Amino acid sequence: MNGLKVVGIVLGAAVILAIGLLIGHFGIPRDPKWVKELAQDLDEKFINQFMNEVDNKRIEDNLRILSNKPHYATSAGDEELVQLMLSRWKDPEFGLDDARDERYHVFLSFPDAANPNTVKVLTQNGSNPFTAELTEEKLTDDQKDPDILQPFLAFAPNGSVQGKLVFANEGKVSDFEYLAKLIDLNGTIAIVRYGGTGRVNKAINAAKFGVIGVIIYTDPKDINDGKSNASDTYPNSWYLPPSGVERGSFKENFGDQLTPYYPAKEFTYRIPESEIKGISHIPAQPIGFADARQLICELNGAQAPDNWQGSLGCTYNIGPGFKQNRFDNSDFVQVNVYNKRIIKPSSNVMGIIRGAVEPDRYVLYGNHRDSWVHGAIDPSSGTAVMLEITRVLGTKLKQGKWRPRRSIIFGSWGAEEFGLIGSTEFAEEYYSKLRDRTVAYINVDISVFANATLRVQGTPPAQSVVFTASKQVKTPSNSLTVYDNWKNHSNRTSPQYGVIPQIGSLGVGSDFAPFIHYLGITCMDIAYTYDRRVTSARIYPAYHTAFDTFNYTAKYIDPGFFSHQTVARTAGNVLLRLSDSLILPLGVKDYVETLEGYYSRAESFQTNLSKYNISLEPLKTEINRYKRAAEDLEEKIKNLKKSDKSPYNIRRINDQLMLLERAFINHLAFPDKLYFSHVLWASRSSSVATFPGLADAYQTAVESNLKQHWDLVHHHLTIAIQAVSNAASTLEDVTKI
Ligand SMILES: *[C@@H]1O[C@H](CO)[C@@H](O)[C@H](O)[C@H]1NC(C)=O
Ligand SMILES: *[C@@H]1O[C@H](CO)[C@@H](O)[C@H](O)[C@H]1NC(C)=O
Ligand SMILES: *[C@@H]1O[C@H](CO)[C@@H](O)[C@H](O)[C@H]1NC(C)=O
Ligand SMILES: *[C@@H]1O[C@H](CO)[C@@H](O)[C@H](O)[C@H]1NC(C)=O
Ligand SMILES: *[C@@H]1O[C@H](CO)[C@@H](O)[C@H](O)[C@H]1NC(C)=O
Ligand SMILES: *[C@@H]1O[C@H](CO)[C@@H](O)[C@H](O)[C@H]1NC(C)=O
Ligand SMILES: *[C@@H]1O[C@H](CO)[C@@H](O)[C@H](O)[C@H]1NC(C)=O
Ligand SMILES: *[C@@H]1O[C@H](CO)[C@@H](O)[C@H](O)[C@H]1NC(C)=O
Ligand SMILES: *[C@@H]1O[C@H](CO)[C@@H](O)[C@H](O)[C@H]1NC(C)=O
Ligand SMILES: *[C@@H]1O[C@H](CO)[C@@H](O)[C@H](O)[C@H]1NC(C)=O
Ligand SMILES: [Zn+2]
Repeated sequence: MNGLKVVGIVLGAAVILAIGLLIGHFGIPRDPKWVKELAQDLDEKFINQFMNEVDNKRIEDNLRILSNKPHYATSAGDEELVQLMLSRWKDPEFGLDDARDERYHVFLSFPDAANPNTVKVLTQNGSNPFTAELTEEKLTDDQKDPDILQPFLAFAPNGSVQGKLVFANEGKVSDFEYLAKLIDLNGTIAIVRYGGTGRVNKAINAAKFGVIGVIIYTDPKDINDGKSNASDTYPNSWYLPPSGVERGSFKENFGDQLTPYYPAKEFTYRIPESEIKGISHIPAQPIGFADARQLICELNGAQAPDNWQGSLGCTYNIGPGFKQNRFDNSDFVQVNVYNKRIIKPSSNVMGIIRGAVEPDRYVLYGNHRDSWVHGAIDPSSGTAVMLEITRVLGTKLKQGKWRPRRSIIFGSWGAEEFGLIGSTEFAEEYYSKLRDRTVAYINVDISVFANATLRVQGTPPAQSVVFTASKQVKTPSNSLTVYDNWKNHSNRTSPQYGVIPQIGSLGVGSDFAPFIHYLGITCMDIAYTYDRRVTSARIYPAYHTAFDTFNYTAKYIDPGFFSHQTVARTAGNVLLRLSDSLILPLGVKDYVETLEGYYSRAESFQTNLSKYNISLEPLKTEINRYKRAAEDLEEKIKNLKKSDKSPYNIRRINDQLMLLERAFINHLAFPDKLYFSHVLWASRSSSVATFPGLADAYQTAVESNLKQHWDLVHHHLTIAIQAVSNAASTLEDVTKI
């Protein structure tokens, strides 16, 4: 081989190699740009950064502004906060992509400033030895604000009634049944304490026994751990002062009452007021316990049962009428109510962050904006947290450092205190879109009831994401994680996981109600709360009074605002996991424990059901099927290989996870219950914690033993079976059909 030949071969090889490299570079197909973009997943480092940047001082500043003035729905103070929310969410440096004000014309009720509601004692000759205070005592400058609403019960009908006074404990049906055996209730006025049953139910129950007017007060036993002396109450402690009065909505159903199922726009058809259900037809008025003491401690008649006695410092008698002492036995109590019902525009403020990959999938996060008075805790503690979360995320967004995978919609709801009105109107207006595209709703209303431990209510698919987040946050008070501290305060033994923190179920206590009960969206409500070893207060003592102020919060509820910060970190962590994770962090298998628990409690019905040839077996079969489907899906997710993560496959799995909660919705299941459609979580009167329709139908049937009622049990069992079956098939592989 000569040298030239060698050079030729080497040169030739080099040329071939070069061509090969060029072909390789340009010719072999590489992943297009969208492959990487569509695979955008959660960034744990970003979550850490977010949590580090959540600032307790800024939350404190937010709360100071938010609770500066009384801001009941549609008031001047409320309108100012609408502008505040808009300006924060539109800020060029830390705002969101978009923010807007959405108005509804909603049916509200207010006291008449010119003609205040009163509770009086009147003698036979017309003199007036006692009138309850019209306002709370001006213990600090906050109570001097001219915009404070006089205590009242929204939607309590106006009217003037007088009669002999009786004490009816908590105003439960059983309380009136007890009284009716001893005394004639016809034409009486009942004084009842908060607690035990819903606010309006006290008057609805009372009316059935011939009572013509109701007075409601807060007993220091229930709210103040028994303390009633002014020296032991605010501003000397967190306890309710003797003049404090809990205001509140006086109706059973949520949403705008004149436009059920439709958004309350100007053009919307409104039902006549006479068709409104679930309201009181007798006047009612709340008073403070200083005034209640003057009435209750003077009552004549038999001594009330031991468990009716409270902490007013006297023996409670049932009446009717007064002892011959300070008042005359023939004296009447008169209740005068002049509440005015009125339709007014109320705003939701919506803030939006567009998702980078799945803009048509929404994570919702919200809280109401309206209060009863200054509302520092309810609701501003939640809004102060929401504004800090949006400040941190908005800053990253504007700096181009972050954009969520899915869209995030923040809601500052209007008129919640009157019955979850803003959130319900929103759910109605965007019904189809929210139903089809919403991943979950996070509600943070009162963010800090007290500073001891996390408290979460939610449906089972929310459990795992809340656990993950709470394990990443430290408590402000000890070296534990929020998760471990929570577990130490409130726990249960799960067949699957052992001892875990207890997640409560969602009632209708805040704006999550339309989302879970009507739309079937996985919901959770997150807050910090009491150490039950230290207090038995029914709720934080200043709730819905003129004492729920910034100073009250800063001094007694959360000095330093570290619990607020902890809630912001935890709720924000959950929000980021839901908005940014490639696969939705919804634990659908965690429904198995609920379903099996429901089944085991329903088994006590089987003996009676057998008499009517009704079997629970098909329900068991569907629950087992659900269990298999959930396990299969979670197994499949765990073993997803990179090559399985095509955008289509990811979307398919996520839709199964997102739509699982929806499968439990049946709008025809509860025709007598407005909005309630979730077959597992609808309201229930029976004490058996199983499928609510089945439990209530069974109770009715057992009581009446009528064939038609046993048929209704069969009907509700069928509804339950069908719901579980729908849920199972939502999770099953599509080829199973
Ligand atoms: C009305 O009765 C009260 C005692 O019940 C008495 O003190 C008062 O003087 C009477 N007033 C009139 C105008 O008779
Ligand atoms: C709140 O407390 C601060 C500090 O003690 C005090 O200066 C201020 O006057 C209080 N505000 C009201 C409205 O009571
Ligand atoms: C209750 O009292 C009214 C008049 O005060 C009377 O018309 C009515 O019949 C009474 N009802 C009962 C059930 O006693
Ligand atoms: C209530 O407080 C006052 C002083 O503020 C005190 O003199 C009185 O003894 C207290 N009463 C009770 C029942 O504790
Ligand atoms: C009570 O309300 C009705 C209807 O809102 C109204 O017509 C009536 O004038 C009111 N009565 C009083 C005493 O305010
Ligand atoms: C569970 O909660 C109780 C209080 O309800 C507490 O005493 C106990 O220590 C908790 N268990 C765990 C393992 O934290
Ligand atoms: C849990 O709470 C109990 C009080 O019930 C306390 O004694 C115990 O130290 C707590 N456990 C931890 C790990 O903090
Ligand atoms: C909660 O705050 C009070 C002050 O109001 C304080 O004494 C207590 O130690 C705090 N508890 C926790 C768990 O931080
Ligand atoms: C009971 O139901 C089964 C099927 O569910 C049916 O085959 C049987 O005839 C029924 N018996 C009676 C007495 O209705
Ligand atoms: C079965 O029904 C009967 C009559 O309706 C009732 O008395 C009994 O308490 C019921 N048994 C159970 C376990 O519910
Ligand atoms: Zn609230």
